[in-house]
Amino acid sequence: MQTLNVELADRSYPIFIGTDLFRREYLAPYIKGNQVLIVSNETVAPLYLDQLKAVLPAIQVDEVILPDGEQFKTLDQLTVVYDGLLTQRHNRTTTLIALGGGVIGDMTGFAAASYQRGVNFIQIPTTLLSQVDSSVGGKTGVNHPLGKNMIGAFHQPQVVLASVDVLATLPDRELSAGLAEVIKYGLVYDAGFLDWLENNMQGLIARDNALLSHAIYRSCELKAEVVAQDEKEAGVRALLNLGHTFGHAIESCQGYGNWLHGEAVAVGTVMAADLSRRLGWINHDAYQRVVRIMQAANLPIAAPEGMTADEFMALMAVDKKVIDGQLRLILLRELGAAVVTDQFDPQALRQTLKHFTA
Ligand code: NAD
Ligand code: GLY
Repeated sequence: MQTLNVELADRSYPIFIGTDLFRREYLAPYIKGNQVLIVSNETVAPLYLDQLKAVLPAIQVDEVILPDGEQFKTLDQLTVVYDGLLTQRHNRTTTLIALGGGVIGDMTGFAAASYQRGVNFIQIPTTLLSQVDSSVGGKTGVNHPLGKNMIGAFHQPQVVLASVDVLATLPDRELSAGLAEVIKYGLVYDAGFLDWLENNMQGLIARDNALLSHAIYRSCELKAEVVAQDEKEAGVRALLNLGHTFGHAIESCQGYGNWLHGEAVAVGTVMAADLSRRLGWINHDAYQRVVRIMQAANLPIAAPEGMTADEFMALMAVDKKVIDGQLRLILLRELGAAVVTDQFDPQALRQTLKHFTA
C-alpha cells in the first residue's frame, strides 16, 4: 500500500493506493460521527457494497443506490440522496461514502458539500478514471442539460481509497476511458511518464496490477501537486483539462452517457494536439505520438459521425474556462508541457474543427 497526501492545510487528506484496501483501519479514523450514508449505483453495489459494509464500525449505516449512468448525474437524482439523508435523520456529523466511479463520486461529493451546508465524505473510487482523477481534488457536481458539470462545488474528501483489485470487474471500454486521463498527465506534465505509458500500454490494457498501481500513483501524485498549488482552479489546475473543452462538447452533443467521458477526452486531446500542430507548437511526429498512444489504449481518435464544426463552437462557448466571452484552450507546447491560452489563431481552430468533422 502506498500513501500520498493532498496538502491543503486543515483540509489535507491521504490517498491510499494498493490492493485489498477495504479494511477498517483505512476507513474508521476518517469517520467522525456515528452515522454513515453509502452512495453507490445498481452496478457497483452488488459487487462491493457488502464487502464495504462488513468493515465499517458498528454505527448507523444507511445506503442510497442510484441508477447507473452519466445521464443520471442530475439534480433530480441528487434529491434521492438528500431524501435518504433526511428520512434516516442524518445530522451534521454524518459521513457520506461514495462507492463507485466518477459519476457517484461527483454526486456524493456535491451532496456532502450541500447537505446541512457541508458534511464529511470519503471517496472509494472503483473505476480507473475515478482513481486517477475524479476522486482527488474536490471537484463535485452534476450536469445540466445545457452543460456538463455546470452545477457544483469544491469540497474535499477526508480520505481516498484506491483499491486496484476492484478494477478486475471493470469493462474493457471503461478501463480504456480511464487510460485517457492517465495519458493526459503524461502529455501535460511529464514526458518521462508518457514514455513509460507508451512502453507499458499492453500490460496496462491486460490489467497488470503492478503497472496499474504505478500509473495510478504517478497520476495521483501529479494531481495532488497541482491541487495543492491551485485548489480552486485560478491558474495551473486548468491544465488538467487538456482535451476537455472539445470532449465536453462531444458529450453534450451526443447525449450524456452515449460517449464515455474518457473517450470524449481522448478525441478532444487529439484535437488539441492537432490545433497545437497547426499553430506550429508541436511537430507532426509529436502529433502522431498522441494519436498512436490513444489507439494503443483502444480509444477513439475521431469525432462522432455527423457532429458539425458549428455544434462544437456552440457547445465550447459554454465551457467553464470561457472568461468574458473569450474561449481559452489547453494546448501543447511540447509533449509533457501544456499551456492554457486564449492566444490562438481562430482560423486554426476552425481548421481543426473542420478536419475532425464531416
Ligand atoms: P462512471 O462513474 O459512469 O463509471 C463507469 C461505469 O463503470 C459505470 O457503468 C459504473 O457503474 C461501472 N463501474 C464502476 N466501477 C466498477 C467496477 N469496479 N466494476 C464494474 N463496473 C464498474 O464513469 P467514470 O469514468 O468513473 O467517471 C466519469 C465521470 O467523472 C464523469 O461524470 C466526469 O465528468 C467525472 N469526472 C470528474 C472529475 C473531477 O475532478 N471531479 C474528473 C474527471 C471526470
Ligand atoms: N479533472 C480536472 C480537475 O480536477 O481539475
